[in-house]
Amino acid sequence: MTKHAQSTVPAKLVLGDKTIELPGLVGTEKEHAIDISKLRSATGYITLDEGYGNTGSCESEITFIDGEEGILRYRGIPIEQLAEHSTFIETAYLIIYGELPTHDQLRKFSDLLTEEEMLHEDMKHHFEGFPSNSHPMAILSSMINASSCFYPGLMRGGFEPHRFEVQAARLISQVRTIASFSYRVSRGLPIIYPKPTYKFTANFLHMLFSNPYADYDLDPQIVRALDLIFLLHADHEQNCSTATVRMVASSKANLFASAAAGVCALWGPLHGGANQAVIEMLERIHADGDDGSRFIRDAKDKDSGKRLMGFGHRVYKNYDPRAKIIKKACDDLLHKLNIDDPLLDIAKHLEEVALREDYFIERKLYPNVDFYSGIIMRALKFPLNMFTVIFAIGRMPGWIANYKEIMENPESRIYRPRQIYTGHTKRDYLPMQQRG
Ligand code: SDX
Repeated sequence: MTKHAQSTVPAKLVLGDKTIELPGLVGTEKEHAIDISKLRSATGYITLDEGYGNTGSCESEITFIDGEEGILRYRGIPIEQLAEHSTFIETAYLIIYGELPTHDQLRKFSDLLTEEEMLHEDMKHHFEGFPSNSHPMAILSSMINASSCFYPGLMRGGFEPHRFEVQAARLISQVRTIASFSYRVSRGLPIIYPKPTYKFTANFLHMLFSNPYADYDLDPQIVRALDLIFLLHADHEQNCSTATVRMVASSKANLFASAAAGVCALWGPLHGGANQAVIEMLERIHADGDDGSRFIRDAKDKDSGKRLMGFGHRVYKNYDPRAKIIKKACDDLLHKLNIDDPLLDIAKHLEEVALREDYFIERKLYPNVDFYSGIIMRALKFPLNMFTVIFAIGRMPGWIANYKEIMENPESRIYRPRQIYTGHTKRDYLPMQQRG
């Protein structure tokens, strides 16, 4: 059950000759809000906030971001500490259940993920139905819903904690299997089944890159780099896709339907699709023989239609702490693999130049999580169209935790925003012969 924010100094709103008082709220990290839930009944007014830049949709205990200071904490624990000491699965447990797991709890969670990793065998036929050039995000969102069709008992009825535990484990575990199967099918390769003896991230690499007669050589540093990518993407407050998951969950739809909707929202190039867009941008800059300077000039010109992908953020007005961690992991991995990727040099040059330019400084535009993550995924040999799928696998625990938070809150209501109508006022139907 979500704890409530504390009351604080109310706001006074003067509307013509009327003054109303709106309750003030303050969260545990001193974030302040004005509760406008009674505004319309008291004044007939609504608020309007395109893109919800100033609007809170909920109270939540899962993730805290301080955009000015570049702070990110999952359930109060700083992302830097989790990146150094934790794993993706341990962090997934923390995000979903609220506390770091004991040894037994982690063992049980890990065993449940192993038990739930296989898709129903009949799911294989669905993969054969997709054109080989299908985008894996389209396959992922449709196959999450397709998979739920095989568990009608699990999906029926309201939210039940014991059923949720199995649903959550099945979703986290199966998205890896769906993603790896879609990768293999798109290349005309035989699908590789998960190995129950492998841990989460190693098993994913095995399902992607092994073949029937030789297992993929699991380099611990590569496994760790991918596990870190998943961990750093695990949750991020009310971003576009998580807000979508909550929107769908607020109608009491099941977990799989809510997650499938989150995949679709994440796909956009302004959101999770940015990691793919960053690489496409760097490749274009490289192909143009540009060191990035010309591109930076264009990115500042609105008419150019170019944006510095991987830069800027609705919340962070400082360096995205995840970008810092990924940039170092990128350096370490490429050094270890002895890879000299010209795109990394261009990315570093872009960052160096952009952070000196008034345009970016004035708008507080810094590298975000997507700026360097694509270069790691390139080094790990992921195809470009799988980058956002990797993001979705990482973000699954955050979506699941937000779904659980809504379902466990008896005061949660269906999301139904208002609007200001600006269309035609009343007019009559015109018979065909009278139309222009
Ligand atoms: C993610 O919300 C989350 O938490 C998301 C995420 C998560 O973990 O879930 O962090 C993951 O989605 C990261 C963001 C990935 N997207 C990109 O890297 C795409 C490039 N960035 C932008 O499109 C933009 O910065 C957004 C979409 C991220 C944020 O957009 P906003 O908050 O709506 O800001 P805006 O578009 O209103 O920009 C404000 C100003 C504008 O200039 P002015 O009109 O004030 O003159 O900044 C400019 C913009 O033109 N601007 C950029 C820019 N980003 C903003 N100019 C050039 N290049 C950019 N990247």
